[in-house]
Amino acid sequence: MTAERRPTVVVAVSGSIAAYKAVEVARLLIKSGIRVIPIMTRSATHFIGPTTLAGICGEPARSEMFTDVADAGEPHVKIAASADAIVVVPATADLLSDLAHGRANDLVRATLLCAKCPVLAAPAMHPRMWSHPATRRNVAQLAADGRVELIGPVDGEVASGDSGVGRMAEPAAIAAAAAAAARGKSNDAGDLRGLHIVITAGPTVEDLDPARYLSNRSSGKMGFAIARRAVSRGADVSLIAGPVNLPTPQGLRRIDVRSALEMQRALDETLGPSLTKADALVMAAAVADYRPAASSKGKMKRSQDTLMLELLPNPDLLATIGERRTGTRPFLVGFALETVGGDALVALARGKLERKGVDMVVANRAVDSFDRDDNRIIMVTAADDERLERASKDVLGDRILDRIGAGCNKATG
Ligand code: CTP
Repeated sequence: MTAERRPTVVVAVSGSIAAYKAVEVARLLIKSGIRVIPIMTRSATHFIGPTTLAGICGEPARSEMFTDVADAGEPHVKIAASADAIVVVPATADLLSDLAHGRANDLVRATLLCAKCPVLAAPAMHPRMWSHPATRRNVAQLAADGRVELIGPVDGEVASGDSGVGRMAEPAAIAAAAAAAARGKSNDAGDLRGLHIVITAGPTVEDLDPARYLSNRSSGKMGFAIARRAVSRGADVSLIAGPVNLPTPQGLRRIDVRSALEMQRALDETLGPSLTKADALVMAAAVADYRPAASSKGKMKRSQDTLMLELLPNPDLLATIGERRTGTRPFLVGFALETVGGDALVALARGKLERKGVDMVVANRAVDSFDRDDNRIIMVTAADDERLERASKDVLGDRILDRIGAGCNKATG
């Protein structure tokens, strides 16, 4: 019997005070059965010793391209080729900048540029560095390239004692995301193979005239994360997206729509007249509840008078599907975005669960979710409510998909 190859994660450490938390990430990955290859930037070695990482991982922690004479060939090529996923933990502002510009001037950077596998990065820096226009530009470039997925940063206290967005995500969330990415690649996570999952994401836009519209602050990140994870786990995915500024994940069918009525038409087509073309529907989109009664062909002109807008209610897309469904397919998941938390949030979500006739409602708060790469959610079903810790939207996407997978299997069995 040949020994099974363990999924492999390269943990790349860069130089920030949060570097000590990389040791915990490595330890959690190893505990979950993953092989960890540690690499470090030169400045990371000022914060933690290579011996610590090597001891935890059972592999040398390299930081130099050229000094190890025993290792012939190009170390960055070899290391990148062995990885099922690479996680940069912590990722400094400098490292993000180099990644955005494709620089390869040390072992960590060259390995990242050479990687074919998923690359994750957990930024850690002072909130003023994270919000600096240069960092915003680099992060936007990385998002547009679609090659690096960021986990965090989160809102909280940073090393200086100041607070804000810049604190590194929790090691457990980083390790879970890296493990999931590695397992997706090593093909042992095809648990959703054979299922067609339809996901809606982003806002809808309701036009008032050619220049103005009504919409909301949804970024689409949660729905896109669920879609990405569903593809990695083998599902056949249709992603119906409102206007968002996100790259299309590989391996799925994307249908772009603008208004709620357009989203309804796309859903009708994708689900089929008797809703039998899909096994599950995840309505992560923030569908506008109202649309202007009339959309002006020409630009509306300013005047001194009060302007009254007449708005018509949009159909509730999810409730309509809940009503039309006769059996247990498709498994229906709705979202509830509220401003309250705790039991009050669960109560509102439970109300939606019943009113819309769905199997699960994912409840979250606006402050926890809007435009962030992480979130805190509660999964509410008729039987229970599961409250999850703050984690990246990819990690949470996996938990939502676990429930969908179980729900679809129950429906079959
Ligand atoms: N939804 C929908 N069609 C709409 C509005 C919402 O399908 N016209 C879906 C969303 O995709 C989401 C869930 O319903 O899955 C959100 O519920 P919703 O009723 O929109 O919440 P609110 O509008 O916030 O409800 P309320 O104003 O009553 O809180």
